Amino acid sequence: MTATPVLKPLLETVLGQRQERLPIWIMRQAGRYLPEYRELRAKAGSFLDLCYNPELAAEVTLQPLRRFDLDAAILFSDILVIPDALGQYVRFEAGEGPMLEPLTTESIPRLDPKGALEKLSPIIETVRRVRAGLSADKTLIGFCGSPWTVATYMIGGRGSSDQAAARVFALTQPEAFAKLIDTLVETSINYLAAQLRAGADVVQLFESWALNLDEVAFGNWVIEPNRRIVEGLRKLVPGAPVIGFPRGAAGNLPAYAKATGVNVLGLDYATPLGFAAELPAGLGVQGNLDPLRLLAGGEQMDDRVRQIVAAFRGRPHIFNLGHGIVPETPIGHVERLIAVARGA
Ligand code: CP3
Repeated sequence: MTATPVLKPLLETVLGQRQERLPIWIMRQAGRYLPEYRELRAKAGSFLDLCYNPELAAEVTLQPLRRFDLDAAILFSDILVIPDALGQYVRFEAGEGPMLEPLTTESIPRLDPKGALEKLSPIIETVRRVRAGLSADKTLIGFCGSPWTVATYMIGGRGSSDQAAARVFALTQPEAFAKLIDTLVETSINYLAAQLRAGADVVQLFESWALNLDEVAFGNWVIEPNRRIVEGLRKLVPGAPVIGFPRGAAGNLPAYAKATGVNVLGLDYATPLGFAAELPAGLGVQGNLDPLRLLAGGEQMDDRVRQIVAAFRGRPHIFNLGHGIVPETPIGHVERLIAVARGA
């Protein structure tokens, strides 16, 4: 007699099958709002040291699942390990966020995609360890930053509210910028394929800076590179399940969803719930509570969670925030969020 295989509700939802149990994970669920993360983080050295330490990174990945009734673990790492692995100088300053040595037209050809995968191998080892420590009904989500978003940090040297440095660079030095995007597409495909082969069930493309682009730039630098990653990844791993999260894409969302072929579209919290009607039938959605509603808690949070759950009843839906949880969020609010999303 063969045992019935245990289904993963989150993975099944990504594959297009709505489940009785509403699958939930929380963007940036491993992080500073958790005391156990802060404690381990203080012992780990630099943030990048933690990302490249499979034992500690696997532990941090699993921390939120020990505490909360979540359906997925997301690999603990960062979108900026790719620039680091390509040979760009990257560091994380406490309180300041990431700082990189900005790329120039001259330094772009010196990036090293061949050596990158070897440099990223400790992260692939983290995936293996997490898989081994995760129960059979939990989905493991791998990820990378999408090329445009990663390029905004590589060109600008740090986060910015308007990504002006990268936008100007793309307009004034289109060939060098295209070369950078090609390098990121190639590296991301190989990196995500390695994550899936090591035990990730699904991968998410974080296009966190999909805002501030006109439709031409959006087509060139968001849609096309994400489309190429999905296509290239599925050549290496047939049927690879992909969640795309183009934060701020607004009116460009339907074009992004149709052209890229992602299984699930992550919706930021500014996306009106009724907008789902504009999306292809059957496409899964993920989202989209404002993280500050979770921070504030109380009835306003409960009400909005119920509205979101009701609005997406007609298609595959993964409950999540519309962007990352903020460090000041009380743990009790997270517990309440999960209970309300599941019908409390
Ligand atoms: O979701 C998870 O729990 C997995 C881990 C994860 C991190 N970063 C850990 C992290 C993931 C998926 C990311 C993605 C990421 N990193 C994005 C895309 C998602 C988003 O929020 O838009 C971006 C833009 C980055 C780049 C980045 N990394 C910034 C801008 C910062 C500094 C701002 C901040 O929140 O501190 C980081 C650092 C970072 N990445 C931390 C964590 C837990 C905090 C650093 C620390 O603990 O010292």
